[in-house]
Amino acid sequence: MCGIVGILGKHEAAPTLVEALKRLEYRGYDSAGIATVNDGTLDRRRAVGKLVNLSDLLVHEPLAGKSGIGHTRWATHGAPTLGNTHPHRAGRVAVVHNGIIENYRELRAELAKAGIAYQTETDTETVALLAQHHLDQGATPEEAVRCTLGRLEGAYALAFLFDGEPDLMIGARKGSPLAIGHGEGEVFLGSDAIALAPMTDRITYLEEGDCAVLTRSSIRITDAEGQPVERQARTIRIDATRVDKAGHKHFMSKEIAEQPTVVSETLAAYIANDAGGINLPGDGFDFTKVNRIVMASCGTAYYACLTAKYWFEQLAELPVEVDFASEFRYRTPPVTDGTAAIFVSQSGETADTLAALRYCAGRASAILSVTNVPESSIARESDLNLPIFAGAEIGVASTKAFTCQLTVLLLLALKAAHARGKMSDDTLRAKLAALRGLPAIMNQAMAIEDGVRGIAQRLAKSRDALFLGRGVMFPLALEGALKLKEISYIHAEAYASGELKHGPIALIDEAMPVVVMAPKDALFDKTVSNMQEVMARGGKVILVTDAAGAEEASEGVWHTIILPDIDNEIAPILYALPVQYLAYHTAVAKGTDVDQPRNLAKSVTVE
Ligand code: F6R
Repeated sequence: MCGIVGILGKHEAAPTLVEALKRLEYRGYDSAGIATVNDGTLDRRRAVGKLVNLSDLLVHEPLAGKSGIGHTRWATHGAPTLGNTHPHRAGRVAVVHNGIIENYRELRAELAKAGIAYQTETDTETVALLAQHHLDQGATPEEAVRCTLGRLEGAYALAFLFDGEPDLMIGARKGSPLAIGHGEGEVFLGSDAIALAPMTDRITYLEEGDCAVLTRSSIRITDAEGQPVERQARTIRIDATRVDKAGHKHFMSKEIAEQPTVVSETLAAYIANDAGGINLPGDGFDFTKVNRIVMASCGTAYYACLTAKYWFEQLAELPVEVDFASEFRYRTPPVTDGTAAIFVSQSGETADTLAALRYCAGRASAILSVTNVPESSIARESDLNLPIFAGAEIGVASTKAFTCQLTVLLLLALKAAHARGKMSDDTLRAKLAALRGLPAIMNQAMAIEDGVRGIAQRLAKSRDALFLGRGVMFPLALEGALKLKEISYIHAEAYASGELKHGPIALIDEAMPVVVMAPKDALFDKTVSNMQEVMARGGKVILVTDAAGAEEASEGVWHTIILPDIDNEIAPILYALPVQYLAYHTAVAKGTDVDQPRNLAKSVTVE
């Protein structure tokens, strides 16, 4: 949700800024821009559309200077036009921003009274105008920024640069992430450590309300109260090679293919040894002190929570409530002692999930999080963070993070079941042994890809699609529909199979493909009955099942996708593969932008 970067460097800043923006493009790609200070003079270049347009512009109109800021935009206020593209400039000030300034209309009105006009539709321009207004009144750049920050309501990560100040950059954060990168005689700012990885691995994460005044030789940080604070620098291990496509056409394809490897890394991190224990970071967590779980997340992470609800309820006999974080945060749900609140987030920065977590802090007995970024706000604000070890996920559509989230949540449910005396040592050992076999089965399952590619050619011609599933396959159906619509732009819905006859069945005709998720489990016959109802009305069924299921039910279906046999509990993790492949190959067949689908961004730091 907008990526920002800043450099006070020893070399020309523009190429490095563009390189860093490339690594941040997953946060938004509506437009991009950079500003530099060269011989004391502030200048900027901006271009609408993908970052490549900015790179092209810089070939013809290079920008010199060793200090600079850059931005890749996911439009919130104002269309993706050149005028609305960051950096925004007012007089001596250039600023890049991630977040939303909620009181920008009020600030604009105040500025208008002082005869200061705005030129863009953005909330961010107000920040630049305010800062310049303070400079005009004699403030130093630092004072101007501090006064400006004091007026802002909403969420921001900001980086400021000033005409005439080649050795000064100011960063501030509230509600959106911002990190300082430490170099030798150089200093950097970035939305995340991935952006800064080619420059440095020494990172300081700013805390809520922090403001950092940076020169090449000094870093001064003050907290929300304006008091000087020390923030610890840490060395972050980011494998830079993981941020390329490794020969794949798209990051999404690479990330789907990586799943057996990353899931096995996740398992290795948590399963203690062959004796069958489960490691939890820190002091672990006592599930005997808990009588209820609440979970709140967004999108794919929400579907991971929905899947986990079945596991926690069935294995650990713990009641679980799952909600969209965006709903949860505003409905003042009762969260009391004895409740464990669990938040799942790939980025660890999703604004709604973070707000839901903050709502539960102080109310729930414990805050747990499952994230892919252990340094993220959600991870840091939890009592116990469980990293998923998926590695950098660049494709906007989440794939490997989903399966790793499921893996961690299943381990947690097993841990809970065992700790609460609902599962014997032997059963736990057997289930962990089965889980250890998952990566090999996932590898085997990848053989479906060719067949799915063929099915996708036909699916790509559809306008709509339905996904059906029962029990633990229902969240997988939801995930399948989300994947398909977000990258192929085919309208897709998912229903619990049993719900079909209560309305959605009216949609079924010869033009409607219906993906039915039905491993041969205890609910198979029920799901197949619903599938027959679809077929009786001409619907074209794509049945996703195992060999036994295919033998029993594939007669008359449009296509069958056959997965290897797998333990019922683990099945949701495996059954993520066919829905990911279906969405991916349908999008490729349609020629859409798979890794950067329209209107989306990877890290949603606005509500
Ligand atoms: C869909 C997708 C999104 C995210 C959602 C939450 O493929 O990736 O639905 O799952 O925006 O993001 P995180 O997990 O970062 O909180």
